[in-house]
Amino acid sequence: MCGIVGILGQHEVAPILVDALKRLEYRGYDSAGIATLQNGSLDRRRAVGKLVELSDLLVHNPLAGKIGIGHTRWATHGEPNEKNAHPHKCGPVAVVHNGIVENFRELREELAERGLTPESDTDTETVAMLIAAYLDDGLSPVDAAKKAIERLHGAFALAIIFDGEDDLMIAARQGSPLAIGYGSDEMYIGSDAIALAPMTNKLSYLEEGDFAVLTRSSVSIWDKTGTQVQRDIRTLRGDNNRYDKDGFQHFMEKEIHEQPNVISEAIDHYLTSDNQPCLPVGELEFNKIDRLTMVACGTAYYACFTAKYWFERLAGIPVDVDVASEFRYREPPITKGTVALFVSQSGETADTLAALRYCAGKADQILSVTNVAESSIARESDLALPIYAGVEIGVASTKAFTCQLAVLLALALKAAQQRGTLSQEELLEITRDFRNLPMVLNAALDQKDKFEKVSRKLAEARDILFLGRGVMYPLAHEGALKLKEVSYIHAEAYASGELKHGPIALVDAKVPVVVMAPKDGLFDKTISNVQEVMARKGKIVLLSDAQGLTEAGPEIWRSVEMPKTHEVLNPILYSIPAQLLAYYTAIAKGTDVDQPRNLAKSVTVE
Ligand code: G6P
Repeated sequence: MCGIVGILGQHEVAPILVDALKRLEYRGYDSAGIATLQNGSLDRRRAVGKLVELSDLLVHNPLAGKIGIGHTRWATHGEPNEKNAHPHKCGPVAVVHNGIVENFRELREELAERGLTPESDTDTETVAMLIAAYLDDGLSPVDAAKKAIERLHGAFALAIIFDGEDDLMIAARQGSPLAIGYGSDEMYIGSDAIALAPMTNKLSYLEEGDFAVLTRSSVSIWDKTGTQVQRDIRTLRGDNNRYDKDGFQHFMEKEIHEQPNVISEAIDHYLTSDNQPCLPVGELEFNKIDRLTMVACGTAYYACFTAKYWFERLAGIPVDVDVASEFRYREPPITKGTVALFVSQSGETADTLAALRYCAGKADQILSVTNVAESSIARESDLALPIYAGVEIGVASTKAFTCQLAVLLALALKAAQQRGTLSQEELLEITRDFRNLPMVLNAALDQKDKFEKVSRKLAEARDILFLGRGVMYPLAHEGALKLKEVSYIHAEAYASGELKHGPIALVDAKVPVVVMAPKDGLFDKTISNVQEVMARKGKIVLLSDAQGLTEAGPEIWRSVEMPKTHEVLNPILYSIPAQLLAYYTAIAKGTDVDQPRNLAKSVTVE
């Protein structure tokens, strides 16, 4: 949510800042801006809309300078217009910010008494104003920034530069991620490693409450107690930060097609060569667990919801699942024997992190399943389990979701093995098919033309329903979410059996109903619900295997045949059609698939 970057360089920084912002655009794309020191004085360019608007502006109105900061915005305070775009400037200070300064109103009142009035509607401008006020009191740039930051409440990652200070940048982190990159006589800061990937793979991550002073040749960091500290410098693998579409039209399309490979990698880490479930790091004793509490947001929440079915069914562990924004304020009692498990692609989602902190010290153990090993959620967990999805750029999550599912299923199988709730034969029956799943996913992807054809029809609808039963019910939710996110068509998911308790009133000849129903133990029940829909002229899109389609009969409006796998694995397999239908419907509607309106990939504010 908002991306920030800063460069203390040896070359002109404007084009490098814009390139870094391009890599951060998934975090927000309402407006963008950069500020540099041009001949020793701060100057900035800001533009509303996607980054391309800023690039165009810079062609006509370039910005020189070898030190600069940049920002791509997801609006929180103030509508997306030029005056609210970052960098914010007050006198000799320019600031970019990711997060929310919660006490900005009272700071503004205080600053008003000093005759300082804001130009924008943002919380961020207050930071620049406060620093400017302290500079006016005679403090040095470092002391003024430090004193101002100590007064901020809320979440922030900040980068700050000053008039006349060509070799100084301040960075601070509280609640929003920030990395420092080390170059040769150059220094960088960025919201994540991808932003800095072309410049360096040597990074350190600031921790909560850190305050850093950077020059081209040095970094000094103080922690929240004011003690000077060192943060480990790590060398990241370059291929982790690849940023290209690989010949696909969109990142979302590329990431959908990457799934057989990345899931295969996840499986290699979570199954031994003789197909026994294992962990890539640490150990877990599931036979000591009485209850599992799983918490997440968005797509990661639906991964947890799916896993509930697996843990309960396969391993007999009672599971609570909740969205983090509700969980954290409900103050649920955490009883002894509870393990809390947090799932997050980014590992930085503010509500999920707050929920984790609520459970720390209460639950027996804090587990996390994330895609970013250096993330706050991973670092604050007792055991952080990686999903091996690689960088995901498309704002609508695809490969991270299926990798989360793969890891959660492996955990449920390990739990079942330890608790003796599955026989060795039953376990191997599942894990053999699990091992072959990438091949089956490829077979589903081979059907993409059929999904595209169905999607052209879906694109004509105003409302779409998704139905699923049993372990396919959470996936119906994910299918509806994906469609809403990228095509802007209203979609709702219901448990097939719940339809008749109200939502069936929505069904008419204009409402397509997508049913994800492999021929499993609950198939016949679902088909009865399909009949109920068709009796009311509802248009069924049935996704099932050959046997399911035959048994469903010829009255189905549209159908696509899916390959077959073990029924436990179906939520992973049927994610492919859920994603492809959303993707192709969005293409048919002409929406911005990789950067849907109003969304951001990493939500670091409440
Ligand atoms: C945002 C993204 C979703 C994502 C959710 C949770 O809403 O747009 O795609 O599922 O955040 O993010 P996380 O990084 O915690 O998985």
